[in-house]
Amino acid sequence: MRYALIGCGRVAVNHMNAAKTNGFEIAAVCDIDPNQIDSLFRRLGWDEAAVSGINRYACYEEMLSRETPDFVSVATPSGTHAEIALAVMGAGVNVLIEKPVALSLPDADRLIATAKQTGVTAGVCHQNRFNLSVQEMRRHLENGDFGRLSNAAVTVRWSRGPEYYAQAPWRGTWADDGGCLMNQCIHGIDLLLWMCGGDLKTVFGRTRRAFHPYIEAEDLGAAVLEFDNGVLATVEGTVNVAGKDLEEHLTLIGEKGSMKLGGTSANNVAYIAFDGEKERNTLIEKTENVYGNGHVPLFRDFAEAIVAKRAPYVTLEDGRKALSAVLSIYYSAFTGQPVGAPPPDLGTATFAEKEREDG
Ligand SMILES: NC(=O)c1ccc[n+]([C@@H]2O[C@H](COP(=O)([O-])OP(=O)(O)OC[C@H]3O[C@@H](n4cnc5c(N)ncnc54)[C@H](O)[C@@H]3O)[C@@H](O)[C@H]2O)c1
Repeated sequence: MRYALIGCGRVAVNHMNAAKTNGFEIAAVCDIDPNQIDSLFRRLGWDEAAVSGINRYACYEEMLSRETPDFVSVATPSGTHAEIALAVMGAGVNVLIEKPVALSLPDADRLIATAKQTGVTAGVCHQNRFNLSVQEMRRHLENGDFGRLSNAAVTVRWSRGPEYYAQAPWRGTWADDGGCLMNQCIHGIDLLLWMCGGDLKTVFGRTRRAFHPYIEAEDLGAAVLEFDNGVLATVEGTVNVAGKDLEEHLTLIGEKGSMKLGGTSANNVAYIAFDGEKERNTLIEKTENVYGNGHVPLFRDFAEAIVAKRAPYVTLEDGRKALSAVLSIYYSAFTGQPVGAPPPDLGTATFAEKEREDG
């Protein structure tokens, strides 16, 4: 499997390690800033022999015209995902896109349509679906162990200060990122949507920029989500915690069983109980940071999907669902009203204009 990476920043280490662990041939890396490529190689700590064969590019179009990778992953600022992934697909190459899949519904729709037209395999990095804890919850769900679900909740309480936002100018902007719901909480929201099943019927949201006046978007969001299958869910996401990334919890409550995932990124089983069984031993997966261990199995699945010509574990449609949920929370927060189906042209840019209009 010949692999190439576009975007060599913070998360790129996880992509390169996932490619290496899965035994891919790493053909090329691309970044508009050559220092980022140097920095990536330093952070990886691979020896000279391991990196000397990797071709370096500053322009992804040039990389696509010269290289013949089987798959490319896109780890650039969120506002550039759609344009770059469309170019990768246009070159007939399979593409795995970092979350969020895009920042507007029309862009997500364009990606889905282009993947169909070109026949390439395309997916999204919601790698937490591969957490051992999440897989255990999913197994119980698919077994029917929960029975009918009544409610669910995701809470993401992390810490991001000025130094994080100063690392790159795109962070916290409406054009290229969004706030904590779109960036940090979208993994938990993806898990919530995946577990609850059904489609969103109504969303009521509130957002605040409480402690980070130097970003455009929110640092705190709360929402009530109602699904068309009757499940009621809540979302609470913030980057305002003092000191450290405190927790990411996902709770699922059914008539025959309940589970709570804990840890910093839903990587532990904190509580598990099903009818006829007392609470069992819980599970703790060791992780180095909140990105978790999921990129390795995600990349493996994606490569297998290419070979088998099947859909990957996390599809573009899954990415669109998570994007649409976050945009719906934003839309509700900005209009003050519950939202049913969000307007089809909605994107984070909508809210930049709204703020300007509102002064
Ligand atoms: N899955 C996860 O857990 C996870 C974790 C962190 C970040 N992310 C996502 O990954 C993406 C990147 O985040 P990051 O924190 O690594 O950002 P970053 O700013 O550290 O890195 C982005 C890199 O992309 C480069 N870049 C920008 N435009 C480019 C272009 N046109 N062509 C090539 N390179 C370009 C930048 O120079 C930079 O080196 C974001 O969309 C973010 O939401 C996902």
